[in-house]
Amino acid sequence: MFAAEVQAVRNQDFGISLFSHEDFQTGTFSLFCEFPNGAEILYRGWMLTGAEYGKLADEISKAGGRMAVDTEAYLGNHHLPLWYPLLSDLTPETRILSLDCDLELELSQLHWPEYFVKDYVKPLKTSVGARITKPEESALLIAEMKKFRGMIEGGYCVRRVESFLPETEKRYFVLDGVPHSADSEVPEIVLECARRLPGRFYSVDVVRRSDGVERVVEVGDGQVSDLVGWDEDEFALVLAGQFLD
Ligand SMILES: Nc1ncnc2c1ncn2[C@@H]1O[C@H](COP(=O)(O)OP(=O)(O)OP(=O)(O)O)[C@@H](O)[C@H]1O
Ligand SMILES: [Mg+2]
Repeated sequence: MFAAEVQAVRNQDFGISLFSHEDFQTGTFSLFCEFPNGAEILYRGWMLTGAEYGKLADEISKAGGRMAVDTEAYLGNHHLPLWYPLLSDLTPETRILSLDCDLELELSQLHWPEYFVKDYVKPLKTSVGARITKPEESALLIAEMKKFRGMIEGGYCVRRVESFLPETEKRYFVLDGVPHSADSEVPEIVLECARRLPGRFYSVDVVRRSDGVERVVEVGDGQVSDLVGWDEDEFALVLAGQFLD
Protein backbone atom coordinates (compact mmCIF):
# COMPACT_ATOMS: atom_id res chain seq x y z
CA MET A 1 0.00 0.00 0.00
CA PHE A 2 2.89 2.38 0.65
CA ALA A 3 5.03 1.41 -2.37
CA ALA A 4 4.21 4.47 -4.50
CA GLU A 5 4.87 6.78 -1.57
CA VAL A 6 8.18 5.09 -0.80
CA GLN A 7 9.25 5.57 -4.41
CA ALA A 8 8.14 9.21 -4.36
CA VAL A 9 10.13 10.11 -1.22
CA ARG A 10 13.15 8.15 -2.49
CA ASN A 11 13.02 10.31 -5.62
CA GLN A 12 13.33 13.32 -3.30
CA ASP A 13 16.45 11.77 -1.72
CA PHE A 14 14.90 10.69 1.57
CA GLY A 15 16.41 7.61 3.17
CA ILE A 16 13.95 4.81 3.95
CA SER A 17 13.87 2.25 6.73
CA LEU A 18 11.12 -0.27 7.22
CA PHE A 19 9.88 -2.20 10.20
CA SER A 20 7.31 -4.94 10.44
CA HIS A 21 4.16 -3.50 11.95
CA GLU A 22 2.85 -7.00 12.73
CA ASP A 23 6.06 -8.00 14.58
CA PHE A 24 6.03 -4.68 16.41
CA GLN A 25 2.47 -5.23 17.61
CA THR A 26 3.40 -8.66 18.90
CA GLY A 27 6.43 -7.35 20.77
CA THR A 28 9.42 -7.48 18.39
CA PHE A 29 10.90 -4.47 16.67
CA SER A 30 12.66 -5.60 13.50
CA LEU A 31 14.23 -2.78 11.54
CA PHE A 32 15.16 -3.30 7.90
CA CYS A 33 17.80 -0.82 6.66
CA GLU A 34 19.49 1.04 9.45
CA PHE A 35 19.71 4.81 9.39
CA PRO A 36 22.62 7.16 10.09
CA ASN A 37 23.24 8.02 13.72
CA GLY A 38 21.25 11.08 14.78
CA ALA A 39 18.85 10.79 11.82
CA GLU A 40 15.53 12.56 12.20
CA ILE A 41 12.78 10.02 11.62
CA LEU A 42 9.38 10.75 10.19
CA TYR A 43 7.02 7.80 10.50
CA ARG A 44 4.54 6.92 7.77
CA GLY A 45 2.25 4.00 8.44
CA TRP A 46 -0.82 2.72 10.24
CA MET A 47 -2.28 4.49 13.24
CA LEU A 48 -0.56 3.64 16.52
CA THR A 49 -1.94 3.96 20.03
CA GLY A 50 -0.14 6.37 22.35
CA ALA A 51 1.62 3.44 24.06
CA GLU A 52 2.71 1.99 20.72
CA TYR A 53 3.97 5.34 19.49
CA GLY A 54 5.97 5.82 22.70
CA LYS A 55 7.47 2.37 22.21
CA LEU A 56 8.35 3.16 18.60
CA ALA A 57 10.05 6.39 19.72
CA ASP A 58 12.09 4.35 22.25
CA GLU A 59 13.11 1.81 19.61
CA ILE A 60 14.09 4.57 17.18
CA SER A 61 16.16 6.22 19.85
CA LYS A 62 17.87 2.87 20.69
CA ALA A 63 18.68 2.54 17.00
CA GLY A 64 20.30 6.00 17.05
CA GLY A 65 17.53 8.14 15.55
CA ARG A 66 15.04 10.63 16.91
CA MET A 67 11.41 11.11 16.02
CA ALA A 68 10.53 14.33 14.19
CA VAL A 69 7.24 14.25 16.13
CA ASP A 70 7.37 13.25 19.79
CA THR A 71 4.64 11.19 21.46
CA GLU A 72 2.94 14.16 23.04
CA ALA A 73 2.76 15.99 19.72
CA TYR A 74 1.53 12.84 17.97
CA LEU A 75 -1.34 12.44 20.39
CA GLY A 76 -2.07 16.17 20.27
CA ASN A 77 -3.19 15.72 16.67
CA HIS A 78 -4.34 12.10 16.79
CA HIS A 79 -6.71 12.31 19.78
CA LEU A 80 -9.76 14.48 19.27
CA PRO A 81 -10.02 15.69 22.90
CA LEU A 82 -6.58 17.30 22.60
CA TRP A 83 -7.17 19.34 19.41
CA TYR A 84 -10.89 19.99 19.87
CA PRO A 85 -10.61 22.77 22.52
CA LEU A 86 -8.43 24.78 20.12
CA LEU A 87 -10.90 24.48 17.22
CA SER A 88 -14.26 24.16 18.96
CA ASP A 89 -15.87 27.01 16.98
CA LEU A 90 -14.73 25.52 13.64
CA THR A 91 -15.94 21.93 14.08
CA PRO A 92 -19.13 20.19 15.31
CA GLU A 93 -19.85 20.60 19.02
CA THR A 94 -18.47 17.57 20.84
CA ARG A 95 -18.78 16.03 24.29
CA ILE A 96 -15.90 13.92 25.54
CA LEU A 97 -17.03 11.03 27.73
CA SER A 98 -15.10 8.44 29.68
CA LEU A 99 -15.10 4.75 28.78
CA ASP A 100 -16.98 3.83 31.95
CA CYS A 101 -19.77 6.38 31.48
CA ASP A 102 -23.40 5.42 30.97
CA LEU A 103 -23.49 6.49 27.32
CA GLU A 104 -27.24 6.05 26.94
CA LEU A 105 -27.88 8.30 29.93
CA GLU A 106 -25.36 10.89 28.76
CA LEU A 107 -26.94 11.04 25.30
CA SER A 108 -30.45 11.30 26.70
CA GLN A 109 -29.35 14.35 28.70
CA LEU A 110 -28.04 16.09 25.59
CA HIS A 111 -31.40 16.01 23.77
CA TRP A 112 -29.71 16.38 20.38
CA PRO A 113 -31.66 15.23 17.31
CA GLU A 114 -28.77 13.00 16.21
CA TYR A 115 -25.42 11.84 17.62
CA PHE A 116 -22.18 11.03 15.77
CA VAL A 117 -20.21 8.73 18.06
CA LYS A 118 -16.53 7.90 17.76
CA ASP A 119 -13.71 7.09 20.14
CA TYR A 120 -10.69 9.41 20.41
CA VAL A 121 -9.64 8.50 16.85
CA LYS A 122 -12.24 6.72 14.71
CA PRO A 123 -15.95 6.22 14.21
CA LEU A 124 -17.48 2.85 13.36
CA LYS A 125 -17.58 2.76 9.58
CA THR A 126 -19.26 -0.61 9.02
CA SER A 127 -22.22 -2.37 10.64
CA VAL A 128 -24.62 0.16 12.21
CA GLY A 129 -22.30 3.12 11.47
CA ALA A 130 -21.56 6.05 13.77
CA ARG A 131 -24.81 8.02 13.67
CA ILE A 132 -27.72 7.33 15.98
CA THR A 133 -30.88 9.27 16.72
CA LYS A 134 -32.01 7.46 19.88
CA PRO A 135 -29.86 7.13 23.02
CA GLU A 136 -31.03 3.52 23.45
CA GLU A 137 -29.21 2.64 20.21
CA SER A 138 -25.89 3.30 21.96
CA ALA A 139 -25.52 -0.20 23.49
CA LEU A 140 -25.46 -1.87 20.08
CA LEU A 141 -23.16 0.85 18.73
CA ILE A 142 -20.65 0.29 21.56
CA ALA A 143 -20.79 -3.50 21.10
CA GLU A 144 -20.19 -3.12 17.36
CA MET A 145 -17.34 -0.64 17.91
CA LYS A 146 -15.65 -3.15 20.21
CA LYS A 147 -16.25 -5.97 17.75
CA PHE A 148 -15.06 -4.23 14.59
CA ARG A 149 -12.38 -1.91 15.98
CA GLY A 150 -11.06 -4.39 18.54
CA MET A 151 -10.97 -1.73 21.25
CA ILE A 152 -12.30 1.69 22.13
CA GLU A 153 -9.38 4.08 22.27
CA GLY A 154 -9.41 6.62 25.08
CA GLY A 155 -13.13 7.20 25.49
CA TYR A 156 -16.16 8.45 23.56
CA CYS A 157 -16.50 11.62 21.52
CA VAL A 158 -20.14 12.45 20.88
CA ARG A 159 -20.49 15.02 18.12
CA ARG A 160 -23.46 16.99 16.90
CA VAL A 161 -24.44 15.97 13.39
CA GLU A 162 -24.14 18.79 10.85
CA SER A 163 -25.38 18.83 7.26
CA PHE A 164 -22.04 18.22 5.58
CA LEU A 165 -21.76 17.85 1.81
CA PRO A 166 -19.45 14.79 1.81
CA GLU A 167 -18.24 15.26 -1.78
CA THR A 168 -16.71 18.63 -0.77
CA GLU A 169 -14.40 17.15 1.89
CA LYS A 170 -10.69 17.80 1.29
CA ARG A 171 -7.52 16.96 3.17
CA TYR A 172 -4.80 19.52 3.83
CA PHE A 173 -1.43 18.94 5.46
CA VAL A 174 0.25 21.45 7.76
CA LEU A 175 3.98 21.11 8.22
CA ASP A 176 5.84 23.39 10.63
CA GLY A 177 2.96 25.85 10.56
CA VAL A 178 2.71 26.00 6.75
CA PRO A 179 -0.52 24.64 5.24
CA HIS A 180 -0.40 22.72 1.96
CA SER A 181 -3.16 21.75 -0.43
CA ALA A 182 -3.30 19.00 -3.05
CA ASP A 183 -4.57 21.53 -5.58
CA SER A 184 -2.69 24.65 -4.37
CA GLU A 185 -5.64 26.51 -2.82
CA VAL A 186 -5.65 26.70 0.96
CA PRO A 187 -8.93 28.00 2.42
CA GLU A 188 -9.00 30.50 5.28
CA ILE A 189 -10.23 27.91 7.77
CA VAL A 190 -7.04 25.85 7.25
CA LEU A 191 -4.87 28.95 7.67
CA GLU A 192 -6.72 29.54 10.94
CA CYS A 193 -6.06 25.94 12.07
CA ALA A 194 -2.38 26.42 11.23
CA ARG A 195 -2.32 29.52 13.44
CA ARG A 196 -3.99 27.75 16.35
CA LEU A 197 -2.60 24.20 16.37
CA PRO A 198 0.94 23.78 17.65
CA GLY A 199 1.81 20.37 16.15
CA ARG A 200 4.65 19.94 13.66
CA PHE A 201 2.84 17.78 11.14
CA TYR A 202 -0.89 17.24 10.93
CA SER A 203 -3.75 16.84 8.48
CA VAL A 204 -6.91 18.94 8.52
CA ASP A 205 -10.06 17.69 6.78
CA VAL A 206 -12.41 20.45 5.70
CA VAL A 207 -15.94 20.06 4.37
CA ARG A 208 -18.64 22.49 3.21
CA ARG A 209 -21.93 22.47 5.08
CA SER A 210 -25.23 22.80 3.22
CA ASP A 211 -25.41 26.48 4.32
CA GLY A 212 -22.07 27.11 2.60
CA VAL A 213 -19.96 27.38 5.78
CA GLU A 214 -16.63 25.51 5.76
CA ARG A 215 -16.09 23.22 8.76
CA VAL A 216 -13.27 21.10 10.13
CA VAL A 217 -14.30 17.43 10.14
CA GLU A 218 -11.22 16.27 11.96
CA VAL A 219 -7.53 16.75 12.54
CA GLY A 220 -5.08 13.86 12.31
CA ASP A 221 -1.40 13.29 12.85
CA GLY A 222 0.25 13.71 9.44
CA GLN A 223 2.27 10.53 9.83
CA VAL A 224 -0.78 8.28 9.97
CA SER A 225 -3.06 10.19 7.59
CA ASP A 226 -3.88 8.64 4.22
CA LEU A 227 -3.04 10.72 1.18
CA VAL A 228 -6.72 11.22 0.35
CA GLY A 229 -6.84 13.33 -2.80
CA TRP A 230 -3.04 13.76 -2.85
CA ASP A 231 -0.57 12.61 -5.41
CA GLU A 232 2.43 10.82 -3.79
CA ASP A 233 4.91 13.03 -5.65
CA GLU A 234 3.22 16.24 -4.47
CA PHE A 235 3.25 14.93 -0.92
CA ALA A 236 6.93 13.99 -1.16
CA LEU A 237 7.74 17.50 -2.43
CA VAL A 238 6.02 19.04 0.61
CA LEU A 239 8.05 16.81 2.94
CA ALA A 240 11.29 17.51 1.10
CA GLY A 241 10.69 21.26 1.29
CA GLN A 242 10.70 21.01 5.07
CA PHE A 243 13.02 18.16 5.96
CA LEU A 244 15.74 18.18 3.32
CA ASP A 245 18.21 20.98 2.73
N1 LIG B 1 -20.44 15.67 13.18
C1 LIG B 1 -20.67 15.16 11.97
N2 LIG B 1 -21.82 15.43 11.30
C2 LIG B 1 -22.05 14.90 10.07
N3 LIG B 1 -21.19 14.09 9.42
C3 LIG B 1 -20.03 13.80 10.03
C4 LIG B 1 -19.70 14.30 11.32
N4 LIG B 1 -18.48 13.86 11.67
C5 LIG B 1 -18.06 13.11 10.64
N5 LIG B 1 -18.98 13.06 9.65
C6 LIG B 1 -18.87 12.34 8.38
O1 LIG B 1 -18.35 11.05 8.60
C7 LIG B 1 -17.12 10.87 7.91
C8 LIG B 1 -16.13 10.06 8.74
O2 LIG B 1 -15.88 10.73 9.95
P1 LIG B 1 -14.41 11.01 10.49
O3 LIG B 1 -13.66 11.76 9.46
O4 LIG B 1 -14.55 11.60 11.83
O5 LIG B 1 -13.84 9.55 10.63
P2 LIG B 1 -12.65 8.79 9.91
O6 LIG B 1 -12.69 7.39 10.32
O7 LIG B 1 -11.43 9.51 10.13
O8 LIG B 1 -13.03 8.82 8.43
P3 LIG B 1 -12.01 8.88 7.24
O9 LIG B 1 -10.93 7.89 7.52
O10 LIG B 1 -12.90 8.53 6.10
O11 LIG B 1 -11.52 10.29 7.24
C9 LIG B 1 -16.63 12.29 7.60
O12 LIG B 1 -15.84 12.30 6.44
C10 LIG B 1 -17.92 13.07 7.45
O13 LIG B 1 -18.42 12.96 6.12
MG1 LIG C 1 -12.02 11.50 8.43
